[in-house]
Amino acid sequence: MHYDPRHEPHKLAHDPVTSLVVPRPIGWITTLSESGVVNLAPYSFFNLVAGRRQPFLMFSSAGRKHTQRNAETSREFVFNLATYDLRSEMNQTGAELDETISEPEIAGLAMAPSRVVKPPRVALSPVALECKYSQTVVLEGSNGKKTDNSVIIGEVVNIYIDDSVIVDGVIDIRRMRPIARLGYMDYCVVDDVFTMLRV
Ligand SMILES: Cc1cc2nc3c(=O)[nH]c(=O)nc-3n(C[C@H](O)[C@H](O)[C@H](O)COP(=O)(O)O)c2cc1C
Repeated sequence: MHYDPRHEPHKLAHDPVTSLVVPRPIGWITTLSESGVVNLAPYSFFNLVAGRRQPFLMFSSAGRKHTQRNAETSREFVFNLATYDLRSEMNQTGAELDETISEPEIAGLAMAPSRVVKPPRVALSPVALECKYSQTVVLEGSNGKKTDNSVIIGEVVNIYIDDSVIVDGVIDIRRMRPIARLGYMDYCVVDDVFTMLRV
């Protein structure tokens, strides 16, 4: 089948788009509001870009949600790795709550101070990437019209790795069990790995 998602119906039982580029890593992002409320929310239109020496993170917000607003005003945010053990808490933080309510408190998540930026990290998450806000790109259609969606980009300025997931100098993914988003209500967990040498 072929269809143009802007103009043509997919004719399937459910919209397939988010099942087609999978799995999507989950940016579980901490920010601080202007009044100091700790905000935590998952964003699966998310990724690490630009490699090892000067890595950047980007996430896309459908509308200017609290995370986008806080990242832009405080100019800082933190990525926490969502793991299988933290799956329920991650899901709870996806609820659309008033900005005066702190999602980590609602989800019963302990937070730990970051090293460089003010937003804290999820204490039980084995990885946290602290970011300084870089820029926001408002997505524009090919017709030149601005959409409601923005990509928010931050430069990674500090990396936290729980020592318990480092084995013989490499990250043991099986000790972290990251989760990722599939389409519909589905997720996957990374606990099977294969190695292939580069040609
Ligand atoms: C696994 C998961 C992934 C999500 N990914 C996105 C996303 O990429 N972009 C988005 O705008 N909302 C996404 N959402 C919804 C937001 O997490 C939700 O709207 C949340 O309340 C936003 O919180 P905030 O206003 O505190 O930033 C996702 C929700 C879940 C559970």
